[in-house]
Amino acid sequence: MNLPNKKYNVIVIDPPWQIEKIKKRVRPNQVDIAYPMMSLKEIMGIPIKEITDDKCILFLWIIDKYLFNGKRILESWGFKYHLTMTWDKTNGLAMYGFNRQSEFILVGLKGKHNAYPPRKTIPTSFRAKSKKHSEKPIEFYKMIRHLEGSKIDIFARRRHEGFDAFGNQVDKDMQVTLLNPQLKILRPSYATMLLL
Ligand SMILES: C[S@@+](CC[C@H](N)C(=O)[O-])C[C@H]1O[C@@H](n2cnc3c(N)ncnc32)[C@H](O)[C@@H]1O
Repeated sequence: MNLPNKKYNVIVIDPPWQIEKIKKRVRPNQVDIAYPMMSLKEIMGIPIKEITDDKCILFLWIIDKYLFNGKRILESWGFKYHLTMTWDKTNGLAMYGFNRQSEFILVGLKGKHNAYPPRKTIPTSFRAKSKKHSEKPIEFYKMIRHLEGSKIDIFARRRHEGFDAFGNQVDKDMQVTLLNPQLKILRPSYATMLLL
């Protein structure tokens, strides 16, 4: 995967985790996952190290199935596990006696972070309504937008203010635009990268 040739201080990554679809018979309203998925090995192999600045904070959106692999994934990218954030989706999915309404974000750190100004803190849990399948809430991006330095949203589907966006479905409904033609993409017709 050809990520931008740039160093970042803030990385958000929402991988296309490999999951098995629930049989339609069990959940007739199950949405189809309309994007390619990646194995754990492929995810751990994403060259995050190449785009991290000496001081970097990483937010990894992770699903229940892979939660206990999270620390290993962060370490493979050169980060130390710091804490877990929770998104309360307020609605969720009722399954086998539980209403699954939480999603998790593992926060990893690289470098010294005691220099972060305490003027605005990030809550470790927040509520926001969920919308489209696997779409992450804009409230999350607003919460972390004040963090200093360059920011990227990996596996994005839409652009968020202040973040470069990388993903093969960025602005899928819109005309594909490469703002910076100097930056290479592995498969130009496939991946769209938008740098602010
Ligand atoms: C979990 S979704 C991301 C959802 C997104 N964060 C949102 O809030 O809508 C994963 C995304 O990664 C994309 N993707 C999968 N494999 C990719 C690859 N090799 N390169 C770029 N994007 C890829 C998928 O098409 C999908 O859009």
